Amino acid sequence: MRIAQRAQRIEPFYVMEVAKAAATLAQEVAHTSQPMIFLNIGEPDFTAPPLVQEAASRAIAQGNTQYTQATGLPALRERISDWYASRFGAQVAPSRIIITAGASAALQLACLALIEAGDEILMPDPSYPCNRHFVGAAEGSSVLIPTTAEERFQLTREKVESAWTDKTRGVLLASPSNPTGTSIAPEELQRIHEFVHSRGGITLIDEIYLGLSYEEHFGHSALAMPGELGQSVISINSFSKYFNMTGWRLGWLVVPEALAPVIERIAQNLFICASSVAQHAALACFEPDSLQEYERRRAEFKARRDYFIPELKRLGMHVPVMPDGAFYAYADCTDAAARLGVSGSWDFAFELMQRAHLAVTPGRDFGQAAPDRFVRFSTANSMAQLREAVARLEAVLA
Ligand SMILES: Cc1ncc(COP(=O)(O)O)c(C=O)c1O
Repeated sequence: MRIAQRAQRIEPFYVMEVAKAAATLAQEVAHTSQPMIFLNIGEPDFTAPPLVQEAASRAIAQGNTQYTQATGLPALRERISDWYASRFGAQVAPSRIIITAGASAALQLACLALIEAGDEILMPDPSYPCNRHFVGAAEGSSVLIPTTAEERFQLTREKVESAWTDKTRGVLLASPSNPTGTSIAPEELQRIHEFVHSRGGITLIDEIYLGLSYEEHFGHSALAMPGELGQSVISINSFSKYFNMTGWRLGWLVVPEALAPVIERIAQNLFICASSVAQHAALACFEPDSLQEYERRRAEFKARRDYFIPELKRLGMHVPVMPDGAFYAYADCTDAAARLGVSGSWDFAFELMQRAHLAVTPGRDFGQAAPDRFVRFSTANSMAQLREAVARLEAVLA
């Protein structure tokens, strides 16, 4: 069978390859004194809170399961709009919000709507690997720009300006980022967007982890930028992370008013709509009880970060910038790998899996600048599991 070039260009998502190996080993060691601890997948260990579960059951029982409008339930778009106002002080009209099957579909829709064949999109290295493929599926190409710890592993205006060419269509950023959990300072983001906008380009910003932000300085939506800037940026978001609904496949994007009908047309044809059960359930995410529970969980994620990252440092795995959001630690494993008698983060990850039954993600997925140096730990795991992981790391690295 002839496979399209487009499909052949898609590299494996190594996070998933590592997860497969870890799942196999997990079965073998399930009944030993050291069952597998999964610190490799970027998925909250919490599930949807009670009101959300009840709303889903109710939607099924009452037969609220038909297609919705392609842009999503109007009531859900309104609740998201209210959430932007109350949590981020951003005025976002519901008409700019389009409900999608996760941030993944939102990214796909934005790329299909805005990228022509041959267009280039600037992204930081390291960054979320699938972004390159959303751009590629729209026949654009991504230009990965190496970043430093001093830059919080994010692009700066200077870097964007100097990388900008006739082919550049825009930038794709994530704040807080996966794999580093670090954000762009709001003033830097504004400087970047001012430049991009002045060139007629697009600023796509993935704010999927913004709900899980731990520091006041960074926890601002790009949509709150003043005037035309906040109206012209494209923000991607999701129910997966802060709202703990990964498998429900629900997210959204916020676009400039004029782009909404274009996105709607593409969404109608490619997806019809996002899951209606998930949409009805998600209405309950914004009930006071649910929001209170989400905030309690956010505090728990922060406590895990505050415990785990100093422990990594103590064990010689330097985390060059303290994450200000999400649930990741992007740690330099050079010394730790040497202590296990291997070199490079890929071999280190497999060695750790075999010897300590700890699954982590090697840097290979996230870019080309320093993939061998870094591994990503996900701290979306109970404190008890994190403590056990630290004890195992300590023992194996001793
Ligand atoms: C930065 C980033 N963007 C998008 C996604 C995809 O999320 P969703 O489950 O909403 O499709 C992920 C998932 O890990 C992510 O880390």
